[in-house]
Amino acid sequence: MQKAISTANGGTSDFVRALHDGLSEPQKNIPSRFFYDANGSLLFAEITTLEEYYPTLTELSILEQNADQIAADAGPNCLLVEFGSGSGFGSCKKTEILLDKLENVAGYVSIDISPTALLEAEQRRLERYPTLQVSAVVADFSRKLNLSGVAEGARRVGFFPGSTVGNLLSDEVVDLLSNFREILGQDSLLVVGLDLQKDHGTLLKAYDDSKGVTAAFNLNLLERANREAAANFDLSAFQHKAIYNSVMERIEMHLVSLRAQEVTVAGITFDFREGETIHTENSHKYTIEGFTALCLKAGWRVERIMTDPKRMFGVFALKIAG
Ligand SMILES: C[S@@+](CC[C@H](N)C(=O)[O-])C[C@H]1O[C@@H](n2cnc3c(N)ncnc32)[C@H](O)[C@@H]1O
Repeated sequence: MQKAISTANGGTSDFVRALHDGLSEPQKNIPSRFFYDANGSLLFAEITTLEEYYPTLTELSILEQNADQIAADAGPNCLLVEFGSGSGFGSCKKTEILLDKLENVAGYVSIDISPTALLEAEQRRLERYPTLQVSAVVADFSRKLNLSGVAEGARRVGFFPGSTVGNLLSDEVVDLLSNFREILGQDSLLVVGLDLQKDHGTLLKAYDDSKGVTAAFNLNLLERANREAAANFDLSAFQHKAIYNSVMERIEMHLVSLRAQEVTVAGITFDFREGETIHTENSHKYTIEGFTALCLKAGWRVERIMTDPKRMFGVFALKIAG
């Protein structure tokens, strides 16, 4: 097994800058890529095991049902490149469904902003695929990535599951999918997992579970800021909140300030009103038509759409247009 670890964006100085910028805006915010420190990655893995969090099990069932077809679309001897691979049973299982079906796979590149997620997942992969050529890359997938030298000449198949794409605004989706087109190259296939629009009750439960794991995941951002960005957030003075924004067609996660307070982050003090929120995540919910239009804008055409009987979740197989 070969391993290449590169440097990540999303490190401490990037975090301090993002906190200073985001907490200075009228709607205070922290970008969601900072959720995934070691504890955040473990908490996300736990979220994927919750009954209320339907996306993981639904996507797994779609992948299982369609694995032969995806392998046929991918063709033999391809390099599998996964963006935001994560860790934990559900995330790893998605990759394994493809690895088990792809014919004579040339290697696997696992890209994530979280070193912890990559290390956790790698241990499991080593046991299951001891001879697979694996490159684990700690990086922000929205930046330019150079995969030259990794399985040169092999056709690249991108895999972007978990509806991570839903965290982005539509312009950002187009930029990211265009970036993936450049990374993967002509003749590639891109498989994207995407959460679809559905009743708001189901959505809200998925982002505000009864065990409070999503709340802990959200609040962990403040704990991370205290640890890594010399902040003094009082965690008991903030509360997790998930809402459905019907205009933007997305779930939003916020942290609500329970009282008027001041918080200092790396030397700068920010005032919070009682009830004021920090916006921490968007999870956009798409129609099949809406996402297809964004793919086309980014230079991808939809080869195949795979979904579950209730059309809760979609797996899109994309090929480069034109
Ligand atoms: C919603 S989770 C999905 C995990 C897994 N793919 C799944 O389907 O269960 C998002 C994953 O993407 C990673 N991630 C988030 N933003 C990222 C970024 N900008 N660059 C690289 N990885 C990122 C996180 O660390 C996390 O592992």
